[in-house]
Amino acid sequence: MEMEKQKSSRIVLVPCPFQGHINPMFELASLLYLKGFSITFAHSQFNFPNPSNHPCFSFLPIPHDLSQFQASSSNFIALLLALNDNIAMPLRDILVHQQQQNDEILCIIYDSIMYKVAEVANNLKLPSIILETSSASLFWTYAAFNRLESEGYFPLKDSIAEDFVPGLDPLRFKDLPIFNFPNVDDLLHLIKTTSDIRTSSAVIWNTTECLEQPILEKLKQHYEIPCFPVGPMHKSIKNVINRTSLTTEDRNCIMWLDKQVAKSVLYVSIGSLASITEREVTEIAWGLVSSNQHFLWVIRSGSITGSDPKSVFHEKNLKEAIEKRGYIVEWAPQKEVLGHFAIGGFWSHCGWNSTLESICEGVPLICRPCFGDQKMNSRYVSYVWKVGIVLENELERGEIERVVRKLMVSEEGQEIRQRAMDLKLEIEKSVAENGSSYKCLDDLVKFLLSL
Ligand code: UDX
Repeated sequence: MEMEKQKSSRIVLVPCPFQGHINPMFELASLLYLKGFSITFAHSQFNFPNPSNHPCFSFLPIPHDLSQFQASSSNFIALLLALNDNIAMPLRDILVHQQQQNDEILCIIYDSIMYKVAEVANNLKLPSIILETSSASLFWTYAAFNRLESEGYFPLKDSIAEDFVPGLDPLRFKDLPIFNFPNVDDLLHLIKTTSDIRTSSAVIWNTTECLEQPILEKLKQHYEIPCFPVGPMHKSIKNVINRTSLTTEDRNCIMWLDKQVAKSVLYVSIGSLASITEREVTEIAWGLVSSNQHFLWVIRSGSITGSDPKSVFHEKNLKEAIEKRGYIVEWAPQKEVLGHFAIGGFWSHCGWNSTLESICEGVPLICRPCFGDQKMNSRYVSYVWKVGIVLENELERGEIERVVRKLMVSEEGQEIRQRAMDLKLEIEKSVAENGSSYKCLDDLVKFLLSL
């Protein structure tokens, strides 16, 4: 009976159309679909997913008015603001049309960055729920920004970089997403808008109590609406394969990994948006080959500022050394890679998904954050959970060689690995029956049915 009621309950999901945000929204979609809800994606035509990869979901393409320049700009914040400015009208029209077809909508769940969706939901008198695809700590940090501003900390000065942020322990000022950020006014505007939960009925988190219990507790008290930490969501849908990569995955690397020794390979990736300079890539390459460890390295098109990845390694002896010890791909099936027996460490930019995917497999990290929440995630990985090492200084081959060897083959690296394995077990407990995330998912289903 309850199942029948759920089947007639359509939930509209509005993701932020970037890889690190699309993935968790699809994971949530799968979880809710498995609980019996019907799922419609209202997705911007920008980075539109291939519907044939998701036969269980329906798709409503939302036209966008982005110019070619805006769509290809590296000014990510301006792009997010433009996507929001663009979405409200067409989304409203499309949903009104759906309702006219007698397609009843139970609620809208939207990525917190797509803040304009709240207006559409209010206008249509539909309940809305936020999906927060980053850590709870990020949300809590955002919520503190007005206070920090009124206490006179902004603009942030280099002289306080190492100081702890009052009320945000263990973060230091240099861990904050706005530290050293070029367009800080735009970013601050986005942060303040995103951290306002507006008229949302609830917040869903892709995190879990064993990682962020104290912060989740504070958030629950602060916002006084139901909070559902149901993550890491990809672990709860282990039998579902979500084909959400915007770039084709190179699966040959799995065959290469199959031939390697257990825990001997360092996986290197800086996610879907970050980029580094050609000098940094060369230093990483020399550091990796000198460490004498095997490595699988994702070098995405666009990830080296101003250079074509295919022609980046000029020195013949470097090229040969890379071929001997390494394997380079443009895009990897990352979750499968991290779960592979051959992987012994992850050099990561510490995007929230990569961080979760690594600790879920008990893979210790070398943290090299680039921007945004990555610096905070890196702080939690190294200082709170103690499952990784941070590479902080300017990238230099000797230091890289030392850090890679420390993680992969030293006694200290072994201790870090052990802690990563312990944390993996904790996370497995939270998504298993009667674990905290498992129970939260049940609570979320009950909540949705009560709307
Ligand atoms: C962006 C922000 O940079 C990050 O700070 C924020 O937390 C989320 O959005 P992104 O660079 O996309 O993150 O990194 P991440 O959050 O780690 O997400 C990347 C996703 O792409 C992961 O789910 C990862 O599995 C996937 N991926 C990455 C692949 O499938 N293959 C790859 O080769 C690289």
